[in-house]
Amino acid sequence: MCGIVGYLGDKDVVPLLVRGLERLEYRGYDSSGVAVVDGGLSIVKSVGKIKSLKDRLDGRRFPGRLGIAHTRWATHGEPNDVNAHPHTDCKGKIALAHNGVIENHAALKKLLLAEGHRFESETDTEVLAHLIERSLPGRTLGEAVSAALQLVEGTYGIAVVSADHPGTLVGARHGSPLVIGVGDGETFLASDGAPLREHTQRVVYLDEGEMVVIDEAGYRTFTIEGEAVDKQVDELNWDLEQIEKAGFPHFMLKEIHEQPDTVRNAMRGRLLREEGTAKLGGLNLSDDELRDIRRIVITACGTSYYAGLIGEYLLEEYARIPVEVEYASEFRYRNPILDEGTLVIAISQSGETADTLAALREARRRGATVMGIVNVVGSTVAREAGRGVYIHAGPEIGVASTKAFTSQVTVLALLTMHLGRLRVLSQAAGRALATELEALPGKIEKILAGAPAIKEIAVQMQHHDNFLYLGRGPNFPVALEGALKLKEIAYVHAEGYPAAEMKHGPIALIDENMPVVFIATRDAAYEKVMTNMQEVRARRGKILAIATEGDADIHALADYVIPVPATHDAFVPLLSVVPLQLLAYYMAVQRNCDVDQPRNLAKSVTVE
Ligand code: AGP
Ligand code: GLU
Repeated sequence: MCGIVGYLGDKDVVPLLVRGLERLEYRGYDSSGVAVVDGGLSIVKSVGKIKSLKDRLDGRRFPGRLGIAHTRWATHGEPNDVNAHPHTDCKGKIALAHNGVIENHAALKKLLLAEGHRFESETDTEVLAHLIERSLPGRTLGEAVSAALQLVEGTYGIAVVSADHPGTLVGARHGSPLVIGVGDGETFLASDGAPLREHTQRVVYLDEGEMVVIDEAGYRTFTIEGEAVDKQVDELNWDLEQIEKAGFPHFMLKEIHEQPDTVRNAMRGRLLREEGTAKLGGLNLSDDELRDIRRIVITACGTSYYAGLIGEYLLEEYARIPVEVEYASEFRYRNPILDEGTLVIAISQSGETADTLAALREARRRGATVMGIVNVVGSTVAREAGRGVYIHAGPEIGVASTKAFTSQVTVLALLTMHLGRLRVLSQAAGRALATELEALPGKIEKILAGAPAIKEIAVQMQHHDNFLYLGRGPNFPVALEGALKLKEIAYVHAEGYPAAEMKHGPIALIDENMPVVFIATRDAAYEKVMTNMQEVRARRGKILAIATEGDADIHALADYVIPVPATHDAFVPLLSVVPLQLLAYYMAVQRNCDVDQPRNLAKSVTVE
């Protein structure tokens, strides 16, 4: 969580840093702050969104060419002005912005207090500023940061400046991402490429345990122990308009509407319709190696985990490989049974989720073959997995994941076809899947054209505070995802259940005030879901059904119906989820919620 920006160059530093923070605000928005080296050190911080920092900065001008900034997602210490970053040492000369958690902060603080250091905040971060202060005598700023970090346990991405070193910006990374932006006579630091793109396309991704010293001469990279490392310069591969709203009121709505294109992009150049299979360049596994896979474990968090659950249905049904899907946060602390025959797939939009990354590392340590399904190019999961498939959905800014989900499922479908055709799937069956996959973008467009009717349903349902989402087969994960969307952006309590499980408990909740969202498309589970719907109807629950176009029977049972085009059973989730994204969106708008930045959440969860 949290976003960091740093800058050394000739532009007006503070507006540049604040603009950069705005591009990172999706990563956290509990508080924000800037520090500028301008003879001394000027620091302005404010609790709340970046807007309140801007209000505080209004009309003030800061000379200077060097500064850092931070937008926070609090882990230690409540969101307030004092706990906002940047944090300083006792003399107010060193300023530091931190992303991550210093796990041994309590022991370090004790030591520093005993040495006479004075603390102002309740954050774990502040110890770092004091440790650097303590290490500085006789050292350069880079050396002092290096010495300080060697005492630290936990995770960090940091940016550091010092009033006594007016030409130096230091960054370091261990567990939280940091990217160097290489400009002409100017150099940037940021948590990801978003703040850099309007200034430069050339970036250097710091790897774990590396640091950078930026000065007049450019930048030099080292290990945290001080050994020089040569890094390759990469290009950011997306355009500025991709991280702007393009006329939509919210990023989430824009991203929902991008799905016909993003699903198309996920399969572009990969689908081999005639052969009924897919070509996945980044897998780097031979056909024989792929045939040797005896079991697949998918690990992920949140929405990516639900995409994984759909992957389980696809891979077991069409490739006949046993699959387990596990929350990364559970997987990493269990004693998972993995061997060479196990393929572990880590799914992550950001590629920076701490739990997913840890699960991936654990899997590698135990000798499993690992791969990533990732959106952000160059992210840590992508690089550490060493093999995988990018979903190519473009930057996803809305905290609620939408287009990444459908692209992840699309890639899982391609992987299923590829593995299936090497094992059990006939060419004809593969072709049927390929043909239908190609038709999906047009079908998603059709659902999006029905958005006004979904908005109307949201208007009518906006006052309900509890929802049940029910689905069977691959629509069960869709129920979970629909419920998660509603919870996270509309703050409405919602639970997803396999439809048949309802009678084992949740049915007790049903009365005329309880809306139940059924995913009741005409697929293998249709008849059974209709029975479950009858059970709700008999108890006078209010029913919203996601149903296949032309299904006249459903109107007898449901109060509201949202139609989706018919498709192959395998791909129903890619259509049925779209109305649920829109429903959550419009509910949130009706309830005056902050759609793109829901409370307490952050886009990349880079802490445990
Ligand atoms: C989705 O709407 C969430 N905000 C969240 O559950 C997210 O999917 C999860 O944090 C995983 O993120 P990742 O895909 O970037 O790893
Ligand atoms: N642990 C630090 C804090 O709570 C940094 C959290 C973050 O990554 O934003 O302030």
